[in-house]
Amino acid sequence: MIQIDLSGKVIFITGAMGAIAEHMVKRLSAAGAMLVLIDVKPEHEARQTLKSWQISDQAYFYHSCDITDSGRLTRIVNESFERFPQMDTVLGHAGGCGLHPFATTSEAEFERVFRFNFLAQVYLTRAVFAQWVRGKISGHLIFTSSYVARVPHTQIPAYASAKAALENFARCMALEYASSGIRVNVISPGNVAAGSSLKVFDQDPAYREFVLRVTLGKRNSPESIADAFLFLCSPLAAEISGQILSADYGSGIGNRL
Ligand SMILES: NC(=O)c1ccc[n+]([C@@H]2O[C@H](COP(=O)([O-])OP(=O)(O)OC[C@H]3O[C@@H](n4cnc5c(N)ncnc54)[C@H](O)[C@@H]3O)[C@@H](O)[C@H]2O)c1
Repeated sequence: MIQIDLSGKVIFITGAMGAIAEHMVKRLSAAGAMLVLIDVKPEHEARQTLKSWQISDQAYFYHSCDITDSGRLTRIVNESFERFPQMDTVLGHAGGCGLHPFATTSEAEFERVFRFNFLAQVYLTRAVFAQWVRGKISGHLIFTSSYVARVPHTQIPAYASAKAALENFARCMALEYASSGIRVNVISPGNVAAGSSLKVFDQDPAYREFVLRVTLGKRNSPESIADAFLFLCSPLAAEISGQILSADYGSGIGNRL
């Protein structure tokens, strides 16, 4: 039997209090990793949630942070490296949106969704890579994308474009930093029956019909996405870089429209 043992590893996770993140936090913590958790939620609320997830206080550090604030995000990254100089795994997981049809979405709202889903991951990369290059650490950065990066979707134009940009950015970074020993990968879920998409799926019949058509009725579980993270964070994936790992029942292949 092969067991995944992440003891001794420190993993930094953004968007750590979300619906998919719940299962990532539970699995990565159960595998023995120390977690540095980042989310916009206030600390007291996060601590209560983590307690309900049965995560021990000793198993994590929590920072409340809006990741679109690059200055604060960089300070938290730097503080985390002061505490854990060998931290070698970072998950740029935060993201999401509500429905925002193009015609009725203001320029400011379009830019907010794009900044949260794309530029905030660039801010994270800049801060983390500076530390890894300085410390000569062969780090591993993993982003969370979505099948909509490759399958055009209605009513989420800023989000889908941001995820498409994120996937190409990840591959550019994997290439540019390969000589530093840094790896960059992406996990790309299908439509997950949890989190930001659940509400719109339940409330908007047109969105629901579209999703079920392009995914052939198969929605993913947050547990299966967490399993993909567990694998990529493990030594089993040590030679993988520049890849999009799609946990989506194949909906990202994009031949069903
Ligand atoms: N749910 C899906 O169907 C689905 C499908 C494909 C990809 N994804 C991706 O998976 C990831 C998680 O999605 P989810 O559905 O679990 O999301 P979620 O809405 O449940 O969680 C998002 C988390 O991000 C936090 N957050 C929001 N704004 C923030 C900010 N500015 N700074 C820091 N934290 C902030 C929220 O407090 C929340 O805890 C996202 O990147 C999303 O795009 C989700």
